[in-house]
Parts: sequence; structure tokens; C-alpha cells
Amino acid sequence: MESPSAPSPLAALQGRDLLSSADLSALETRQLLALATELKAGRRQINLGGKVLGLIFSKASTRTRVSFTVAMARLGGQTIDLNPSVTQVGRGEPIADTARVLSRYCDALAIRTFGQQELAEYAHWASIPVINALTDLEHPCQALADFLTLQEAFGAVEGLTLSYVGDGNNVAHSLMLCGALLGVNVRIGCPVGFEPSAAVLSQARALAQGNAKVEVVHDPVAAVRSAHAVYTDVWASMGQEQEQEDRQRAFAGWCLNEELLAEADSRAIVLHCLPAHRGEEITAGVIEGSASRVFDQAENRLHAQQALLAALLGG
Ligand code: CP
Ligand code: NVA
Repeated sequence: MESPSAPSPLAALQGRDLLSSADLSALETRQLLALATELKAGRRQINLGGKVLGLIFSKASTRTRVSFTVAMARLGGQTIDLNPSVTQVGRGEPIADTARVLSRYCDALAIRTFGQQELAEYAHWASIPVINALTDLEHPCQALADFLTLQEAFGAVEGLTLSYVGDGNNVAHSLMLCGALLGVNVRIGCPVGFEPSAAVLSQARALAQGNAKVEVVHDPVAAVRSAHAVYTDVWASMGQEQEQEDRQRAFAGWCLNEELLAEADSRAIVLHCLPAHRGEEITAGVIEGSASRVFDQAENRLHAQQALLAALLGG
């Protein structure tokens, strides 16, 4: 008797949530990057047949909002903007009720908010996939696009070193977790007091299973030495605007400039999730320079999220 062909590892993602980079297995992460590559090259076409993604964004967004909207359009689906200021969420309707009601109309929700707990509460009550479109803790969709960009530059990512210089924030956390899954060494360089969460650090080390090193260092040169990718992000994230001046002082000497970049591997690429503050965490010369892949990286949000939506929605 013929044995049935093995189901794609992505089939197991149907109906699931993506609240953290760690919600994916190593194989699922690699398969999502492979599907994103196929979609980007036009070798695969997926039609979700009118499925609807609700966007609940409590913070500003250009890339995430637009790339999700365009990704759904390209997959034959639609998005609805459920900005809390125009729904009853803004007037205090409980998440438990909102999530159950929206699950009757939409096929998935992409949520950008402050606390990870709020996202988890939506996921608890919703019967449809909930996607983390950035919280204070993580930015898993960003990390998928980032490693897709690294893969495009180097062919394969396993064994490479990605250095992140700056605040140990949401973007750093998802890079640590996703990098660990993919066998990429992730080196976080930050001033004392701005380290990534200790819990995320141990989680990333556990996920790496000895296949990658996840380190935290407090010297910018040591952080970027021989790295294949040098990544930075703003010093004050959304919600930390009142700390902007204190942070500017604390991060003095941590700007990703030409001199610092010269410490990296000669083939190193420069990544930034954007929006960027030129003259603060990165110089205009570096972000506009020949090593910069920031606009490919921004474009890859679209391809990576198209793959993710196709998998979660069973395309
Ligand atoms: N990188 C990123 O998430 O950008 P937006 O805040 O514009 O969505
Ligand atoms: N760390 C930044 C990322 C923006 C995409 C923030 O949370 O504001």
C-alpha cells in the first residue's frame, strides 16, 4: 500500500497563534522563510479566498500596518482596521468580549499593543489566530523578515553571527529567539542597565540547543567584532518617549557609525527595523551606505507575513 506523503510542517501552523518568536519550531521557522522566498520570487501563489484579517493597533505603524494589508490583498483576502479609538475597545469593552465577537467576523487578528499580557488575553478568548504585530516584549514578524534578509545576503544563515547594538528591547528579544531557532549566533551589545530580559535570554539559550551562542556584552566594539550582520534600533521605543533624553545620555558611544561597522566582517550587512533616528542610533552614512539592507528588510516584512498568513490561515 502506498504511504501517504508527509504533511508539510507548515500545515501544523494552521489555526495557531504567533505571540512570540518561540511559538514556532526551528523547522517551522525555516519553512516559513522558504515559503516567503517562493512567494517573493513569484514561484508560488496562494489564494485565501476572501479571508479577513482584523488589525488592532494601539501604537503607530507604517510597515507592519501596510505590509499586513498588502499581504492579505495579494492572498485574495482583506483587512479591517480596528483601531481601538474607533471601536468600543477604546471605551473600555472587555477584551474577553471583543475577542469572542471579532472571532465571529474575522479569520485572524494582528495586534500591536503595549503589554504582552494583553495580547495573550486576546489569544485566550479568540478562536482565530492572533498575531503579535509588536508588543513591548517582542516583534516576531519583524524577526522573520530580518532573517529572510540575512538569508538572501548569505545564502544560508546557520553559523552566522548577528550583532545587535542598542537597547535590549522587543526587537532584540525576537532576534534572540528566532536567531537561536535558526542556529544564528546572536550577540547583543548594550549599555549596563539596558540588557534584554533575563528570561528571554535563558529561553533563547535553551532554544539554541547548543547550535548557536546567545550573548550579551557591554562594549560596542566587542559586540560587532566579525559579525555578519549589524543591527540597531531606536534607543527609546514607543511608550518610552519621556525617557528619550535620559536614554540619549545613557547610549552615548553606542551609535552605529562607520568606525564601529568597520569592526564587523567585511561582508557584513546593516539592518534596522525602522523607523530610524539618523545621528542617534545610526549615522546617515551607515544607513544609506553600501552595506545597508534596510529597505530590502522592510520589503521582506511583506513576503514573510504573506507566508505566515498563508500558514496560519491554511492556504
Ligand atoms: N518596523 C516596524 O514594525 O515598523 P512600523 O512601526 O512602521 O510598523
Ligand atoms: N523598538 C521599537 C520598534 C519599532 C518598530 C518600538 O517598539 O518602538
